[in-house]
Amino acid sequence: MTGSRKFLFGLAGAFGVPWLLLVIIPVIKAQKLTPEAYDKDRDGIEGVYPSTSIDRQGQLVYISEGCAQCHTQMIRPSFVGILDGWKKGWGSDQSDQPKHAVRPSKWEDYMGEPVAPLGIQRNGPDLANYGYRAPKERAAIHLKLYAPRASKTNAWSMMPSYRHLYKVKAIEGNGSSHALEFPEDMAKELKPKKGFEVVPTPAAEQLVDYLLSLKKDAPVPGEVVAEDAK
Ligand code: HEC
Repeated sequence: MTGSRKFLFGLAGAFGVPWLLLVIIPVIKAQKLTPEAYDKDRDGIEGVYPSTSIDRQGQLVYISEGCAQCHTQMIRPSFVGILDGWKKGWGSDQSDQPKHAVRPSKWEDYMGEPVAPLGIQRNGPDLANYGYRAPKERAAIHLKLYAPRASKTNAWSMMPSYRHLYKVKAIEGNGSSHALEFPEDMAKELKPKKGFEVVPTPAAEQLVDYLLSLKKDAPVPGEVVAEDAK
């Protein structure tokens, strides 16, 4: 074998083998995952995993708007032993002092998602379980997307405004029932002019549906201690 051939083979091996092991094989395995029923005796619960599915249309908006540039959807294993459950609001347990820290993400969490927007940087909070801690009113989530710095407590936020997902239009009659409500103390320049209202486009509604569907902390069949699942 000539030197250049050896070099090319070496190069192909050095990149090809890790690519096969770290990308191709895991992708094939992940594509084969199918929903699985819990075993009452083993898992301590009934039903099927995953019990919820994500809103695909909204996911496309999330991806095309580049939210994953700043938000992850991937919870790392916590090696911080202090006070298990020290963070409020990251999983389904929304109490002030959750009993357990939220579990790390598993690849089954992304079952059925053609693309899993795991995220590039964590500039904003992880959104893997946002559906649990989201405000009750959809309007509040819309306001967050329309004017991230709307509330005084978030005036420092570096999240960009997604106002292009909203329409500013003249109020007709009683106005739209979907129109955003603006807090009294919000900066004037962020609010629509008098006689105008801000209404979400279908893309904004889909994005909110998607955010509300993010609930990725259900126990994985076979990996739960029955005690924990109760
Ligand atoms: C340039 C970075 C950046 C981008 C891009 C970005 N965000 Fe954010 N986002 C943040 C930061 C920082 C925060 C935390 C401060 C705050 O609440 O404004 C945040 C907060 C949030 C919250 C509240 C999270 C919570 O735990 O209450 C939601 C929901 C959210 N972003 C959704 C989105 C969506 C949806 C997109 C895309 C349409 C997006 N963000 C794009 C930086 C970003």
